[in-house]
Amino acid sequence: MSEAAGQGTSDAKEEPYGLIASYTRPGHPDFLDLPWHLPLAGWSSSCPRIVQVERGLSRHEVLFVSYPPAIYALKELPSGVAEREYDLLLELEKRHLPAVTPVGRARTRTMAGEELSVLTTRFLDSSLPYRTLFHAPGLASYRERLLDAVAGLLVRLHLAGFYWGDCSLSNTLFRRDAGELRAYLVDAETSACKDALTDAERHQDLLIMEENLAGELATLVAQAAGPPVGAETGRQVRERYARLWEEITREETLSPVESYRIHERIRALNALGFSVGEVELVATGERNRLRMRTIVTDRDYHRHQLHTLTGIVAGDRQAQRMLDEIHEIKAMLTREQHGDVPLNVAAYHWMRERYEPALRKLAPLVAATGDALELYCQVLEHKWYLSEREHHDVGLGRALEDYVARVPGAA
Ligand SMILES: Nc1ncnc2c1ncn2[C@@H]1O[C@H](COP(=O)(O)OP(=O)(O)O)[C@@H](O)[C@H]1O
Ligand SMILES: [Mg+2]
Repeated sequence: MSEAAGQGTSDAKEEPYGLIASYTRPGHPDFLDLPWHLPLAGWSSSCPRIVQVERGLSRHEVLFVSYPPAIYALKELPSGVAEREYDLLLELEKRHLPAVTPVGRARTRTMAGEELSVLTTRFLDSSLPYRTLFHAPGLASYRERLLDAVAGLLVRLHLAGFYWGDCSLSNTLFRRDAGELRAYLVDAETSACKDALTDAERHQDLLIMEENLAGELATLVAQAAGPPVGAETGRQVRERYARLWEEITREETLSPVESYRIHERIRALNALGFSVGEVELVATGERNRLRMRTIVTDRDYHRHQLHTLTGIVAGDRQAQRMLDEIHEIKAMLTREQHGDVPLNVAAYHWMRERYEPALRKLAPLVAATGDALELYCQVLEHKWYLSEREHHDVGLGRALEDYVARVPGAA
């Protein structure tokens, strides 16, 4: 953390102006070379670090600055507001919820004597604002997934006791995750963090989401930028939210001899990507009946497992696809060696025989897109597509060659 002196003195007020104080987490630049004596709106002509990136709509002045290899987002807010949002983003991080990473906050004073605050976050790499998803041809299939991603994000926040207060498409960033989308919260200005949310609070958050989405999509349609999306989009997100919420929070009753049902329930939640932290079993008062409640801790079940096995940090669905391959190899090795092969042996085999050689072949594409894991998953998808067409497993090597041959500039 650093405390910086002001950069000038205002004649009118005899008070320093510019940067009054800045606090930055270690591992990031100190940002002291930025033109803090100006409001953010005046930086474009005097700051060579500014970069233009795809972004959503915003109420406040938001700028992006480059400190290679990283990009940071700076948001100018009224005095004291950046500090609050910074704390909320930290809390999200502590609760392992998907959101942009808070990096620092600053207090500034304009030459006119007005105090402002600035929030700095790390630019979320490989993220897409929703407008890109609606504009770009070929991304239509993602629109449906966008609804799932927003619903999934709201469920995760609510399970963790986090009230968003301004869920909108502009306040969400999307990352590709093995053909699906993963949503991240980007704007926590109106949020509140509690131990648990009441049904009324969840309802209120959903109402805000519906209203915001209706407004945003109407604007897109008015600009003829997107497909004719109806006002029902918000309702569809709510319905998906309700289904997922019900699935996760559902309580079941069982008898002590039905312990297999506990495993079934855990497996069903894991398949949705949720890690189960605890299974609570409480006597119902009825003879031999127990009430089962599962407590999920995050939606990174496959991610954690892949990371433990291989050290790779992937999206949860990407991880799920790769784990499927590792399990396939385990079965194959077990057959060949006439004995059970542990999963970490299969994982090692997968890394050396499949993953690393594939990435070497994909290197030109990886250099162009920077998204190695997503490319690898696309090759897997291509393998399924070819195998289905040809009614047999075509193998990864063949899929890779075909994939690379189809993408211009990749070979
Ligand atoms: N850390 C970040 N990474 C990527 N994009 C960001 C980041 N912070 C902000 N943005 C972009 O800037 C836009 C505005 O940021 P936001 O925090 O929502 O500002 P406001 O409070 O003014 O609405 C977002 O829609 C998003 O596209
Ligand atoms: Mg916003």
